[in-house]
Amino acid sequence: MPPLVDTHVHLLAGLDDGPDFPDVAVAMCRVLAAEGAGHAAALCHQNPDYPDNTPDRIRPAAAALAADLLAKKVPLAVYPSAEVMAGPSLVDDWAAGRLVSLGDSGKYLLVEMPHGEFVDLLPAAEQLRPLGVRIVVAHAERYPDLLHDPGMAERWIAAGCLVQVTARALADPWSDDMERGLEAWVRGRFVHLLGSDGHGIDRRRPLLADGYARLLKLGGRAYAERVGHTWGLAVLRGEDVDAPPPGPPARSWFTRLLGG
Ligand SMILES: [Fe+2]
Repeated sequence: MPPLVDTHVHLLAGLDDGPDFPDVAVAMCRVLAAEGAGHAAALCHQNPDYPDNTPDRIRPAAAALAADLLAKKVPLAVYPSAEVMAGPSLVDDWAAGRLVSLGDSGKYLLVEMPHGEFVDLLPAAEQLRPLGVRIVVAHAERYPDLLHDPGMAERWIAAGCLVQVTARALADPWSDDMERGLEAWVRGRFVHLLGSDGHGIDRRRPLLADGYARLLKLGGRAYAERVGHTWGLAVLRGEDVDAPPPGPPARSWFTRLLGG
């Protein structure tokens, strides 16, 4: 199995509701390595609740974590990142350099919905695309309006969005509706990236392995490896992700034989 890539984990100590102290962040990274991860987006929230989380604060925090991991011989590569919130100023904030992208490469912006709201990301995706940046929909399974509307998901993906799902939701969905929706998404190839959305050690641990196992079972090895490894690493390194558009589940014996 290639090393898994966690495209969503709160690792910047003291900057948001993730770990309070660097030692906790390092312990989380040890958990991730044990889960089979080799790479992780070390991120914190960037939203009105955390106005101090500017790029100038996030970049050195991620660099300090990377140095800590090296010193403590934790085998995990971390990439400076942020989880930003959809809102009227999203595109302007991006254009003004106020937001940190995944891997700080300037190509993929991890976007979550405002608290308790669901907004159409299509206009923002269309405005960001000419600026060279694609939206990654953070923990997309949380939004029933999207999860149960394949037409909407297809339109967002066609506009350049990538769909990130939480490994824990795949492994242990918290409702039958979510289970059905996620299964349909995996079988229809709507899912592009995996994240733990880990926040700590005692709560919301950064877990990936069980979610990856479920992905493998539902989607087959070739697809699971793209989601769990190839596309995640491309995003963190700022490389292109050339994912085929979602479609009906691949069911032929020949496709199954090939692991597709
Ligand atoms: Fe998060």
